[in-house]
Amino acid sequence: MTIKISWFSHACFLIETDQSRLLIDPFLSDNPLASGTADEIQTDYILVSHGHGDHLGDTINIAKRTNAIVISNYEIQNWLIGQGVENTHPQHIGGGFDYPWGRVKLTIAQHGSALPDGSYGGNPCGFLLYIDGKKIYHACDTGLFYDMKLIGEEGIDLAILPIGDNFTMGPDDALRAVKLIEPRQVVPIHYDTFDVIKQDPHAWAKRVKKETAASVTVMSPGESIEL
Ligand code: NI
Ligand code: MN
Repeated sequence: MTIKISWFSHACFLIETDQSRLLIDPFLSDNPLASGTADEIQTDYILVSHGHGDHLGDTINIAKRTNAIVISNYEIQNWLIGQGVENTHPQHIGGGFDYPWGRVKLTIAQHGSALPDGSYGGNPCGFLLYIDGKKIYHACDTGLFYDMKLIGEEGIDLAILPIGDNFTMGPDDALRAVKLIEPRQVVPIHYDTFDVIKQDPHAWAKRVKKETAASVTVMSPGESIEL
């Protein structure tokens, strides 16, 4: 089975398996780089890493239109129910769950998670996806933390890492993250969307190629790769 992974810019991905479509952090409407629109996108699941607007994004509208199941932490799930979202599945840090298409485990992330109206959004998370023998780690918004080494011990096929700096790891720490995780392949994200996170992903890719064994794929918004 091939797993198709499409990037819409920032932290937003659509992962398509033979069975299901998973949309991660659907920040589209207010995203100047977005390659898709919230009105058109089709999905079966929506994964929300934390409450910030550039990750929660269009979750409410897309969930109501598609009836997709929203996977997030317990606090965000409760808040979404209050917003009229009916299909949710709460998880929390360190916990995994087997869905029909594969497993999702929530990892720690060093960040915040307040919701747009100021509500408490619990702890932010990253996602470890187990799909058809492949392991994908989407770090979401985070600073560098040494426990990335533990995540890497699982044997990561694809690591998706922020390099934007200012709100998350910058290029230097993201390079250190690659060294801790030792993934087969890495994709940089969370850069260029706003002025304060402008980065050169190709310069970063060169450093990763020189200093680690990982292959780097710099994606353009709208581009897809297969695992
Ligand atoms: Ni954030
Ligand atoms: Mn963010």
